[in-house]
Amino acid sequence: MINAIKKRRSIREYLSDTIPEEKIKEILMSAMFAPSANALYPWELVVVKDQDTKELLSKTTPWSTHAKDVSIVIAVIGHEQESSNWIEDCSIVAEHIWLEVAEQNLGCCWVQIRGNNNAEKDVKEILNIPENLRVLCLMPIGIPVKEQPEHSEDKFEKTRIKYEKYK
Ligand SMILES: Cc1cc2nc3c(=O)[nH]c(=O)nc-3n(C[C@H](O)[C@H](O)[C@H](O)COP(=O)(O)O)c2cc1C
Repeated sequence: MINAIKKRRSIREYLSDTIPEEKIKEILMSAMFAPSANALYPWELVVVKDQDTKELLSKTTPWSTHAKDVSIVIAVIGHEQESSNWIEDCSIVAEHIWLEVAEQNLGCCWVQIRGNNNAEKDVKEILNIPENLRVLCLMPIGIPVKEQPEHSEDKFEKTRIKYEKYK
């Protein structure tokens, strides 16, 4: 198993340091390697470094306060009209980003935007995203205050796995 899978945790406390450009490039590259249904790639990313914009984004849901404390926030945008699988494709993009962040010993924590009351409308307004596009989530990324424990084999829950047939 690749180490990043165990290392990936939700980090919500960050130092104020900025992430170097080459690391941001690697994180964006990881998104490009994500699979996509029918190879449609119905997604785009908005990378936000501006502090005022991050503050605004951090107020879009009750669970996004950490977005003001990070170096960058990446908004994952979906083209709903291009693919009925936009949610799946955007989710895999977000997970690729999260795994690359873990690989680099940086921190991230998914902020759900789609379906979260007014959050999607608010994020679209803040980032000038056209009406016909969707916002799946924000990925705030920064330097963690402290390391979180890696996931361990204790997480294996036998009852979640069925063999051959469900019953
Ligand atoms: C689809 C999805 C939405 C999530 N939304 C939020 C969120 O809005 N705010 C937040 O702080 N964490 C959010 N999380 C992080 C989860 O709370 C976290 O993944 C879960 O508690 C397991 O912890 P771990 O990521 O450290 O393994 C979200 C995770 C997923 C997969």
